[in-house]
Order: sequence, then structure tokens, then C-alpha cells
Amino acid sequence: MTTKQIIFGVLSAFVFASCSNDEKVVFIYADETPVNPPVQATLKEKAKFKIGAAVKMKDLQGEVNYKNAVVKHYSQITAEYEMKMASIWTSSTVYNWTAADYLVNFAKDNNMEIHGHTLIWYDSFPDWFKNAKYDSIAFEAKVKIYITDVVGRYKGKVKSWDVANEVFADGGALREESVIKTVFKDPIGFYGRCFQYARAADPDAKLFYNDYSVVLDAGKRTAIKKMVTRFKAKGYPIDGLGDQFHYANDTNKQTMKTGFTDLASTGLLIHISELDIKVNTGKSDSYVFTDAEAQKQSETYQYITSMYEELPQNQKFAITTWGVTDKYTWLTAFWHPKEYPLLLDNDYNKKPAYQGFLAGLK
Ligand code: G3I
Repeated sequence: MTTKQIIFGVLSAFVFASCSNDEKVVFIYADETPVNPPVQATLKEKAKFKIGAAVKMKDLQGEVNYKNAVVKHYSQITAEYEMKMASIWTSSTVYNWTAADYLVNFAKDNNMEIHGHTLIWYDSFPDWFKNAKYDSIAFEAKVKIYITDVVGRYKGKVKSWDVANEVFADGGALREESVIKTVFKDPIGFYGRCFQYARAADPDAKLFYNDYSVVLDAGKRTAIKKMVTRFKAKGYPIDGLGDQFHYANDTNKQTMKTGFTDLASTGLLIHISELDIKVNTGKSDSYVFTDAEAQKQSETYQYITSMYEELPQNQKFAITTWGVTDKYTWLTAFWHPKEYPLLLDNDYNKKPAYQGFLAGLK
């Protein structure tokens, strides 16, 4: 007899003893089947910081399951493309706001934040701008107007921006292929002034520098920390640093943790800004995403989110996955068609990776 039944038995005896003969006692037996198991919290419900996903307007418009998954699991979105120069700055006299406005409004309508990605990226300058061959004075004057117009348009709506993305090459040298390096004798000074232009356009927006392999590449991390030091000395505003975290099942976890701790030592907000975990690390055409592989991926995600949770609360900003579903990951084109890097599968079901991500959250 279970404890519940004993208690119920005692209660019954008491009720009988206190009832007069003509009163009818009706017992409603407690249903023995267990109470419905508690519904698992979603990522955004459990996290004490924003959980973001890179999204595309066409997918939000075109697939209701995609939209529902974004709203259900995430509290922040990042435009995978639509808020970059190449998408907005279509000519020297025309801005195309349609897609950026759609995503800003989508976030507002669904009570989500939207992280602005990205104001200055060497890889997203539109061809008409590059072909104009502006000198440094004209170049900066036009970029200042662009930043002022874009950040100003979304003032109070886009509360954080990647002001600059991928300034440094592997090892920490300035990118050779960057148009900024060819135009400016002091590219870091130009970037610092771009942070100033963004601050002036929206004093409340959090301003980030974003790059990849930051926690793995000590040379790049040193260059970033040196830039932050110089920014602070020159009064250039910066609030946070993003490491994209495009990593893999076989990424060395100790190297990751050592670099992450070093990055956090800046004291700035830390954004894991484009998280995805490759599994087909050998780019094999015969790769199979087995349960064992899925479990390894889950453990990698758990390692990363529990590492992030070790940050002081005032340095936590967001963890953003670079995509919503394996079906639309950028990696099938960039890396290999047989790639399954995200938290939801092609049918928007939670993968073991989702459980691992969740388990790492406090
Ligand atoms: O939507 C337009 C279409 O209208 C146009 O006709 C066509 C012409 O090329 O371009 C389409 O836009 C594509 C866009 O994705 C939307 O799908 C661009 O060609 C294509 O270059 C763009 O790729 C994006 C890439 O950044 C370049 O902006 C990827 O989706 C996006 O995942 C990738 O994300 C970057 C981060 O911003 C920075 N970190 C690395 C990461 C991966 O490369």
C-alpha cells in the first residue's frame, strides 16, 4: 500500500467516524496514474540571458513551422543577411529597408530582441561602393552617413550591433583582402570612429566587435584585446565582444576554455554569436549522423553552454545559434551537404544537441 493510500485510508476512517448515518460519503479516489510529467522548459524559458538564432526573412515568410520554432525556442534573432550593407545599401543614393524592417518588426511583434549584424564587414561592402574607389576621406564620410542612417532608423528597436566583423586574419594580422586596409593607413582608427558614429546614433545600443575562432586563435585574441585597449585609451566606445563559435565535435575543449577565459578577462559583454557544431569533420560523402555522433554533439553543446554560464552575470549577453534547423544551415553549402550542426533537425524536432545545450544552462 503506497503512502498516499495509507493517508487516504486514515482520512476515510476519520470521515466515516464523523459522519451521521444518513449522510452519504462519496470518495473521489485520487487518480493513481502519475500527474502528467512536467513539460520541459525551452531554451529561452530556462536561460537567464538571450537565446538567439540567425534567421532569414524568406524562411520566416515561407514556412510556418520555421516561424513557430523561432518564436517557441528563441528570445532574440539576428538577420543572417538582411541587415548587412550588401542588403541595405543598394546604391549611392538608395537604401533598401524592406527586409531589415521586416525582421525588426517581426522581433517587436513576437516580443523578441534583434541583434544588428553587421555595420562594417569587408565581405559585405556592395560592389558599387568598392568600384567607386573612394579615397579615405570620402570613404569614411559615406560610411559615417550609412551608420548614422541605419542605427538611427532602428534606435531603441535594435538594442545591440556588431559594429565591425572579422577585421583580423588568422594569427591577428589585419585582413589583407579588406577594402579598409587598402584605403586607410590606420584601419583600427577608422573602426574606432565607426563605433563612435554608432554610439552617437543610438547612445543606448550595446556595441560589439565580432570575429571567428577568437577563443582558439591566441594571436587573433591578442590583436582584439590590443584593439580594445586602444579603443578605451582613445575614448572609442565598445561594450562587447563576439566569438562566432563555428566549431566542431572535435574542437579541443581545453583550448576553447582557456581562450574563453582570456576573452572574458576583458570584462566586456561576451556574445557567442554564431554557434554551430560541425559533426562531419572529415567532409565525408559517406558520413552518417549516428546516435553516437549526435551524443558527442550534445556533449559539445553542453560543454559550451556550461562554460558560458561560468561568466559573471554582468558579462552574459546572449548565445546565438547560426540558424534554426539543420535543413537551412549555411554549412551544407560552405562545408559539406552531409552536415547537421544545429539544435533542431529538418522537421524542427529537438535533437540531443538541444538537450545538451539546455543541460548546460543553470
Ligand atoms: O537573397 C539574395 C538574393 O535576393 C540575391 O538574388 C542573391 C544574389 O547573390 O543573393 C541572395 O543573398 C544571399 C544571402 O546569403 C541570403 O541568402 C547572398 O548571395 C549570400 O552571400 C548570403 O550568404 C550569407 C553570408 O554570410 C554572406 O552575407 C550567409 O547566408 C550567412 O550565413 C553568412 O553568415 C556569415 C556571418 O554574417 C559572418 N560570420 C560568418 C558567417 C558565415 O559565412
